[in-house]
Amino acid sequence: MYAVEMKNITKQYPLVLALDHVDFALKKGEIHSLLGENGAGKSTLMKVLYGICRPDEGTIIVNGKQVDLKKPKQAIDLGIGMVHQHFMLTPVMSVTENIVVGCEPVRGVIFDKASAQRQVQEMIDRYGFQIQADQKVKELSVGEQQKVEILKAIYRNAKILILDEPTAVLTPQEVEELFRILRELKKAGTSITIITHKLKETLEVADTVSVLRDGRMIQSDISTKGVTTEELAQMMVGREVELGICRKTQSVGKVRLNVKEITLREKEKTVLDKISFQLKEGEILGIAGIEGNGQTELIECLTGIRKADVSLIEKDGEKLEGAPGDFISRKVGHIPEDRMTRGLVLELSVRDNLILGYQKLFQKNGVMNRRRIREFTENLLKEYGIKAPNISVKCSSLSGGNQQKIVIARVFSEDPDVLIVAQPTRGVDIGAIEYIHERLLKLRDEGKAILLISADLDEVKNLSDRLMVMYDGRIVAEGLPEQFDDMHLGLLMTGAAGREGLQYE
Ligand SMILES: Nc1ncnc2c1ncn2[C@@H]1O[C@H](COP(=O)(O)OP(=O)(O)OP(=O)(O)O)[C@@H](O)[C@H]1O
Ligand SMILES: [Mg+2]
Repeated sequence: MYAVEMKNITKQYPLVLALDHVDFALKKGEIHSLLGENGAGKSTLMKVLYGICRPDEGTIIVNGKQVDLKKPKQAIDLGIGMVHQHFMLTPVMSVTENIVVGCEPVRGVIFDKASAQRQVQEMIDRYGFQIQADQKVKELSVGEQQKVEILKAIYRNAKILILDEPTAVLTPQEVEELFRILRELKKAGTSITIITHKLKETLEVADTVSVLRDGRMIQSDISTKGVTTEELAQMMVGREVELGICRKTQSVGKVRLNVKEITLREKEKTVLDKISFQLKEGEILGIAGIEGNGQTELIECLTGIRKADVSLIEKDGEKLEGAPGDFISRKVGHIPEDRMTRGLVLELSVRDNLILGYQKLFQKNGVMNRRRIREFTENLLKEYGIKAPNISVKCSSLSGGNQQKIVIARVFSEDPDVLIVAQPTRGVDIGAIEYIHERLLKLRDEGKAILLISADLDEVKNLSDRLMVMYDGRIVAEGLPEQFDDMHLGLLMTGAAGREGLQYE
């Protein structure tokens, strides 16, 4: 018995055929993973099912009945819930307000806040989440916001749940917790579709897998029993993919970036507490940690976006300070963690975004050299495999992963000596992850000094030559990557392991 059957779905955007006669079926009570490279059409297919996006062709059958979905409200009424790739919560509202918005309990005609709060707190307790119903969403970590999104769908009685990359920002413990909840929901009869780029997770939680490539359904309804991550990777990309990376022994050179006791207080709270480290030529220094523990502020201090209360940063022995432009001209490159607000101007074209901040290099006597810009940007599209119909389309029309690739391509191509790299592969597909990792290692081998901040444990562990763990504004542990196992790292990242101070050297 099917919860959802989508047949022959086609969606043509002005320049992209996002879905090409796609069939997709979700069985009742199964967890079905939808895989595919960046831009393959995963989010689009699920947006069609949620009534956000109208297909040009095709039929949708929900619980045996054909439906015509014009807006999300209709999908919600049919028991469909969606947790989006980019969160859609209102930060200034409380957890309760965000969850009940649109279907508030009423007493007479008045919003019954007390009863809403009670219902939401009951749900939170049932799932054992560490959040409070009256907390403001802006006070929550990204992982916690994720949980609010899920509760919102459950509150609306979703019997069909769509999760678009829900684990990209979670710690291993949080992923385990989410999977526990998904299994519980499945037992209660909920049918779940989950989009993720993490193949290990797919095999762990899903019963069934379908793979999209370039808008076409390549394989559908594959059982996760008896299939390997390598096979899944090959189905997605159409070629063999190197999943594990090798760190070669390298030669670490002189100190390029010397950071001394960066301290930042905000609203009576210490956000950064005497952070010191040295970043050397030819090394990748990783910082593992859950978002919201000072990484954002640290990155901002290291790129000139924010000024710390106390700080001394030296680049090649000379003081480094000033505005972001000064940091860029001293050859400190920055891949920001949040591409939507810092990395890109979504309303500008792919071309303008690929030279953003570096326009001067393409000017002569105040005139932009359009031909050089075109050649340069078209080359980058090819080199980084960015899926865009041409360089003039707006960045807002690209898929999430392709937007990320634009930021990477821009910064890597400007030949910095020091690179501050945050969450470089969040939301990008395995082919692109492989590519970005190779590039980072190559840049390291060429002698660049790289600071890598990532919530993805496999990533920081595999790439880093040295690893630090950040919690609550402090560096709580430092060592070689192989000195930490995942669970131990997870505990350090949540503060549960206390101050370990694993030191080496
Ligand atoms: N609003 C839009 N206008 C024009 N093109 C779009 C729009 N939304 C998506 N596309 C295009 O449709 C294709 C599929 O996009 P979609 O977001 O479904 O990919 P995805 O599989 O979710 O990728 P990712 O893993 O990067 O999130 C992409 O080529 C994208 O550029
Ligand atoms: Mg997507």
